[in-house]
Amino acid sequence: MRLRNRMKLELLSLPGNVRLARIAVAAFASEVDYNVSDLEEIKVAVSEAVSNAITHGYQQKKDGVISLTATLFTDALEIVVQDHGKGIDDLEQAFEPNSSSDPERMGLGFVFMRSFMDKVDVVSEPGQGTTVKLRKKLPDKVQAET
Ligand SMILES: Nc1ncnc2c1ncn2[C@@H]1O[C@H](COP(=O)(O)OP(=O)(O)OP(=O)(O)O)[C@@H](O)[C@H]1O
Ligand SMILES: [Mg+2]
Repeated sequence: MRLRNRMKLELLSLPGNVRLARIAVAAFASEVDYNVSDLEEIKVAVSEAVSNAITHGYQQKKDGVISLTATLFTDALEIVVQDHGKGIDDLEQAFEPNSSSDPERMGLGFVFMRSFMDKVDVVSEPGQGTTVKLRKKLPDKVQAET
């Protein structure tokens, strides 16, 4: 899996940065000709991961640091969203739909991430933070060219 390109961003845990993260990743991915629906799915998955870091990881605290790394390999796009916030006690439960720790929420963020991306890996340590790795295969045509 050859490395083609990489971008690293550091974002403060401000709600407005969800949009910034989504736009930055879409721009980064634009060198690959994903179709509109794939690109839309990538944007939703990134938004969900970053908004989780802000609302759950840092619990609305505005000076938390979120790191976002996007890497383009010859066969896939990989996006890693990392926070050093609260962490997740029970990952299995967090993956369940409707299992939000906040009764106002739908608890669908991980469900979307897992259905829109080819692979979702989550590593989390209570009190230490959470790392979400999202992976989506490149369109077949691009893989053939590289
Ligand atoms: N970065 C994170 N830090 C701490 N807890 C997290 C983090 N991401 C997710 N969680 C926990 O996992 C649960 C499930 O996350 P998920 O995104 O699926 O649902 P939600 O955020 O509660 O609701 P929705 O995404 O639909 O608004 C959250 O309720 C929260 O308890
Ligand atoms: Mg969520």
